[in-house]
Amino acid sequence: MSVLVENIPQHVAIIMDGNGRWATKRGLPRIEGHRRGVETVRTATLAARDLGVRMLTLYAFSIENWKRPQDEVGALMGLLEYYLKRELETFVRDRVRLRTIGRIEDLPAGVQKVLRMTTEETKHFNDYTLVLALNYGARTEMVDAARAYAAAVAAGHEKLNDSSWETFDRYLYTAGMPEPDLIIRTSGETRVSNFLLLQGAYAEYIFTPVLWPDFTKADLAAALAEYSRRERRFGLTSEQVKAAMDK
Ligand code: IPE
Ligand code: IPE
Ligand code: MG
Repeated sequence: MSVLVENIPQHVAIIMDGNGRWATKRGLPRIEGHRRGVETVRTATLAARDLGVRMLTLYAFSIENWKRPQDEVGALMGLLEYYLKRELETFVRDRVRLRTIGRIEDLPAGVQKVLRMTTEETKHFNDYTLVLALNYGARTEMVDAARAYAAAVAAGHEKLNDSSWETFDRYLYTAGMPEPDLIIRTSGETRVSNFLLLQGAYAEYIFTPVLWPDFTKADLAAALAEYSRRERRFGLTSEQVKAAMDK
């Protein structure tokens, strides 16, 4: 499948949306949709790697999601712990490196523990990375980065006059990661919901009506194919981009 697509995005990020609607449509409780969504996480993780992607970021829980009914939040945290415990072995077997972005320190202790264990045990794999955005919000990330940057300036590690995007971006949760080339959102919503606002500044966006539990490898391949047909210009003219490609 991957041979058909040229120009594969190195880093794909997905806003996994539509679990609740998937369940409601079938007369099932919302949590059933989340359960199915977890299975799609496994499929998508392997599919992305098969298709030649090097890094996959999945938006799994936003800072705003704490405002959902308590039983749904509790069930989501339980599912997260179950998923991580179940996948630890497969990550090691399949050489998947796990990273996280978000305020991990506010997650339940059990979740933090298995996250620490998994990131530690997989940190030496460098072919393929799965990044889970957990308790993530771009605005909070910006505030956290500004605070860390200010502390570094105060400590004399950074010079205020030398401030630039290149010096600041090392204080984001995504320090050291490539920016997402492609951001996909499932479920038909066409909004960003506080996800990677700075890092996605020049990402390509694809919105698909497919609900997350129904998202397949073929849907991912279709998104990659659409991505490969787009021209990323980064502020240049199309002629300039073509000239640079011919070099
Ligand atoms: C995405 O599905 C999963 C999370 C946000 C945790 P939703 O639960 O948002 O599903 P809808 O949008 O209600 O269908
Ligand atoms: C975005 O989905 C967050 C995640 C996928 C984790 P939401 O369902 O929370 O977003 P809104 O509320 O529809 O904007
Ligand atoms: Mg939603």
